[in-house]
Amino acid sequence: LSSYPSYIDLLPSIQTCNITNLPENYFLKYYLYHALTWPQLSFVAIVRPRNGYKHGSGNGLAGVGAAGDVSGQYPKVVGYVLAKMEEEPTDGKQHGHITSLSVMRTHRRLGIAERLMRMSQRAMAESHRANFVSLHVRMSNTAALRLYRDTLGFEVEKVESGYYADGEDAYAMHLKLDHMW
Ligand code: ACO
Repeated sequence: LSSYPSYIDLLPSIQTCNITNLPENYFLKYYLYHALTWPQLSFVAIVRPRNGYKHGSGNGLAGVGAAGDVSGQYPKVVGYVLAKMEEEPTDGKQHGHITSLSVMRTHRRLGIAERLMRMSQRAMAESHRANFVSLHVRMSNTAALRLYRDTLGFEVEKVESGYYADGEDAYAMHLKLDHMW
C-alpha cells in the first residue's frame, strides 16, 4: 500500500464520487472524522493516472490508512465505502454502520461494491468485534437492495418512515458478523 497516495490526497475524489452518485452528501471533515476514528473500516477503489505513479503501479482497492508519494497526479476514486462503528449503541452491543457506499457508473457491475462491503465487514469483525453491521437504504433503490439482501445477506430490520431529507422511507437493514471473530 505504500505506493498509494494518502487518504487526504484522495478526499476530493472520494467526495466527487459521492456527489455524483448520491443526494446524501457530507462535509470533508466528516470523511476525515471517519478516517481518523476508524481507519480500518473505510476503503476506496481507484484507477491509476495514465502515466502511473512514481513509485508502484496498479489499480485496486486500498484502505484509508494508505500513504505514499505519487508523481504529481492523483488517482481517480471510482468507488468507496465510508464506514464507522456506532458510537453509543442503545443495546450496548458493538456494531458497525455503513455511512455511504457508491461506485461510478463507468465501473458498475464489476463486483467493486461487493468487495468494498466485504472488506469493511471483515474489518469491523476483526478490528472491533462488531456483532453486526447496519445501514439505511432508500426503498426505491433496487440495485443497492439486491446487493445488500441477495448478494451480501442483509435482512430488513424495519422501515424508517420519512428517513431521507426528501421524505422517502428507508429500510433499516442489518447483517450479523459475530461468526467472523
Ligand atoms: N440491478 C440489479 N442488481 C444489481 C445492480 C443493478 N443495477 N447493481 C448491483 N446489483 C446486485 C447484483 O446482485 C450484483 O451481482 P451480479 O452483478 O453478479 O448480478 C451485486 O449487486 C454486486 O454488484 P456490484 O458489481 O458489486 O455492484 P456495483 O459495484 O455496481 O455497485 C451500487 C452497486 C453501489 C449500488 C451502485 O449501483 C451505485 O453506486 N449506485 C448509486 C449509489 C447508491 O445507490 N449507493 C448505495 C446507497 S445506500 C448506502 O450508501 C448505505
